[in-house]
Amino acid sequence: MAMRVHPALVDTFGRAHTYLRIALTERCNLRCVYCMPEEGVPQRPREELLTLEEIHELARLFVRLGVRKIRLTGGEPLVRRGVEELVARLRAMPELETLAMTTNGLLLAEKLPALHRAGLDQLNISLDSFDPVKFSLIARRPGLERVLEGIELAIALGYRPRINCVVLRGINDDEVLDFVAFARTRPVEVRFIEYMPFEGNRWTTDRLVPYGELLERIGSVYRLEPLAGGPHDTAKRFRIPGFVGTIGFITSMTEHFCSTCNRLRLTADGHLKVCLFGPQEVSLRDALRAGASEEDLVALIDAAVKRKKAHHAGMEVLPHIPNRPMILIGG
Ligand code: 5AD
Ligand code: SF4
Repeated sequence: MAMRVHPALVDTFGRAHTYLRIALTERCNLRCVYCMPEEGVPQRPREELLTLEEIHELARLFVRLGVRKIRLTGGEPLVRRGVEELVARLRAMPELETLAMTTNGLLLAEKLPALHRAGLDQLNISLDSFDPVKFSLIARRPGLERVLEGIELAIALGYRPRINCVVLRGINDDEVLDFVAFARTRPVEVRFIEYMPFEGNRWTTDRLVPYGELLERIGSVYRLEPLAGGPHDTAKRFRIPGFVGTIGFITSMTEHFCSTCNRLRLTADGHLKVCLFGPQEVSLRDALRAGASEEDLVALIDAAVKRKKAHHAGMEVLPHIPNRPMILIGG
């Protein structure tokens, strides 16, 4: 059956935006160096954030317009109170095909059983090191054991979690083969993510380990067999003979995938962002609270989507474009 997508979700390059990422909070129980500025971010008053009610209402609107996949992000989505109920309410929309979450895993052992019952379909779990000291260095907080516990629980509940690893040269790039080996006996997809520049994260090209280099390093030890991808896949995926899990690469910096982008982002304070790297935003929160009709909201979304550029700026320019810190955008 052909999917019907409202014209408001289609941009001037013909890309249909059927995937919405919703940040539930700006807070996090970790402080990853690539995400959170060292000085932290100011705590926004609670009333500036969308309520769960407003999130549900906007999600319903987007699903009516044609969104088929929603991912809950943050900050750390599991620190938001009521996340289990929200998952259940979102999952109750029959048109929604996939409800996913990206989490740092710290609270999974506690919260995953309820999320699973509520119908959460897919999990991405961040993990950047198997060494507790290094973990705490990158995350500026301890927690490795709890994350590993969360991953095992996810597997036990039948998930095939993606393990997100941001590769940082000189910090965790010596563990790349350990990460590959993690997928040998586990039903996981280990995803190596190129380090991206955001406000306050001290990005430099020296710290970035490009996809090509990772391929070479892993390919000299294992036979990487490319897997066919879906039309909107951001990961280049591979299997390794004899492995239960798979390997993926998110090449945002060296080979961007803007031409097949189908994503929109709703920040925790209710702003619609049409590009991860674009400063352009529109406040759906303010419109909603001013009593906007569905028609008004659709017009706002339409205008924002139509302003979306063909692709984001290159690696030379990107670090100099004003944007939010990652913690305030949402993975
Ligand atoms: N570069 C690449 N990935 C990032 N993430 C956060 N900040 C960055 C960055 N600077 C990703 C991490 C984390 C998710 C929430 O967002 O993979 O798992
Ligand atoms: Fe928290 Fe995730 Fe950002 Fe780390 S990357 S500080 S876990 S939101």
